[in-house]
Amino acid sequence: MRFRRHALVVFLIIALFLFTAAVLGTPRAHADGIPQAVKAEALGVDPGELPILIQAAPPPPPEQDTCMHCHLTGSIENMWTPLWRWLAAGAGGLVFAFGAYRTGSTWIQRRRWKPIWARALEWIDDRFDIVEPARKVLEKPVPLFATRWMYCLGGITFTLFVIQAITGSLLVFYYKPTPEAAYESILFIENEVRFGAAIRAIHHWSANGMVVMVVAHMVRVFIHGAFKAPRELNWVSGVLLLILTFSFGLTGYLLPWDQRAYWATTVASEIAGAIPQIGDLVLVFLRGGWDVTAVTLSRFYALHVIALPVFILILLGAHFLMVRRQGVKEPL
Ligand code: HEM
Repeated sequence: MRFRRHALVVFLIIALFLFTAAVLGTPRAHADGIPQAVKAEALGVDPGELPILIQAAPPPPPEQDTCMHCHLTGSIENMWTPLWRWLAAGAGGLVFAFGAYRTGSTWIQRRRWKPIWARALEWIDDRFDIVEPARKVLEKPVPLFATRWMYCLGGITFTLFVIQAITGSLLVFYYKPTPEAAYESILFIENEVRFGAAIRAIHHWSANGMVVMVVAHMVRVFIHGAFKAPRELNWVSGVLLLILTFSFGLTGYLLPWDQRAYWATTVASEIAGAIPQIGDLVLVFLRGGWDVTAVTLSRFYALHVIALPVFILILLGAHFLMVRRQGVKEPL
């Protein structure tokens, strides 16, 4: 019961956070329809001098607009369009119909109502026998000392990684990894895609949070001496996870392909190039040549969205299995 209440509170906090981020992000995520010349005149500047965020293009004519409700109505009426009205009313109707069916069924059978998800789970369990093995994994008690906040740092890092995976998967729908199109596609995500600015902002902040949390987690593990026998390999897998987390940061930073991205990558790969003996090799490997070019962009993109996620998932699996096997180290 306590667990359920906690889960509910956590869920509500996450929902509130996402809602706020979405609401704050939305004004930037929509073209406002005011021609740039009018905005520039109002501000008394040249149209070219308008800051990027208020340069949003006017909406295209309805027949060229990719958003569904504009197709349905031929006009934009914020969120409260006929499509949304139908969806809301339909959902309300379904809830009502289901409630009536459930009440009737309980009345007739004189038995407690079994939730649909419980029936579905039973149906699957009859065929695949998964509940018992899953219970063994999920019901392992957590020692009281490990419920203190400093033991949550690894879990928070993992939660942020999951957020990165979800928001990143959404961003790749619109991002284009070529020098000609990359920056344009970022502007498109910021100004045109619904919730695009919010999703990009969440990806950005959660990336920062992940770096902070992984370092904090490592410090906690170090201070508690949890790297000593028998947990040496967990520390080693942790070091690899740290390198992977930083690599996500490095490869992701180049993707907007603006001045900051370009020069940050130039400097970072220059630093790698200063490693004694193998410096040149590392530099050419990172850049895909002697300079930061289109090849660098595509290899950073491939690393960021395919290679690094695969490696990190494998390592996380190993990391968690080891924690499970050995348990969390007791405090000093
Ligand atoms: C993506 C990065 C990482 C994630 C998601 C992660 C996740 C976790 C989680 C959930 C735990 C169990 C509870 C806890 O202490 O928080 C744990 C334990 C551990 N982690 Fe990490 N970790 C990461 C990176 C690291 C790093 C960088 C190191 C060290 C270099 C490290 C070393 C360890 C060790 C030694 C333990 C066992 C701690 C103990 O038994 O008390 N991990 N990790």
